[in-house]
Amino acid sequence: MSTSEIKKTKRSCKIISQECIGKDIYSMWLNAGEIAKNAVPGQFVSLYSRDGSKLLPRPISLCEIDKEEEKLRLVYRVTGRGTGTEEFSGLHAGVPIETLGPLGNGFPLDAVKGKKVNKEFEAYGDVYVATEDGSAGTKGNVMDAIRENGLEADAIFACGPAPMLRAIKAYALEKGIPCWISMEERMACGVGACLACVCKSKDVDSHSHVHNKRVCKDGPVFLSTEVEL
Ligand code: FES
Repeated sequence: MSTSEIKKTKRSCKIISQECIGKDIYSMWLNAGEIAKNAVPGQFVSLYSRDGSKLLPRPISLCEIDKEEEKLRLVYRVTGRGTGTEEFSGLHAGVPIETLGPLGNGFPLDAVKGKKVNKEFEAYGDVYVATEDGSAGTKGNVMDAIRENGLEADAIFACGPAPMLRAIKAYALEKGIPCWISMEERMACGVGACLACVCKSKDVDSHSHVHNKRVCKDGPVFLSTEVEL
């Protein structure tokens, strides 16, 4: 069963905390009940605005899942004045937000069972850092860090900008490492109906019957060989 087949729920989720952690970047914990219980890394939720003129919900990736306490952490950027994300950033603890999720297809955790998985990074595995200006770790990008440290892997999970994903996909192919990537696209419905979020794929999509995949429904996590970047 793909994770996109996991039962999604729409419910009112109370904000537990909201914190500004950088310029226009917010971290919000939600009391999310079964949405948190059913969620896996790589999935997202759609948050609904209280403003009736904004019909479409805003898709936001899951940053952290606490199944025991049924909480979700979302880290998001305010994308402009008058946007849904600006509205969310102004809401305080105790305020409910209409939330749909979990949505999309997450990372296949079976691929790394028994291996080190970076969760809160250093607590769970070896961490290698790359910065473009060399201020920390390897000077360069993630591929430079992989090569400089001679890193090997049983599986690769990656998210980030398309050029980086392209380079990681090529590296994984060259080394024969199974690789999953999280794609980003602008979304509208968030549930696979409108085709606003398609990316090019190797196979024909069962919904649109062309070489497309819907990032919101078939992804956002794909096996790297399934999609074109
Ligand atoms: Fe509508 Fe993906 S956002 S199909």
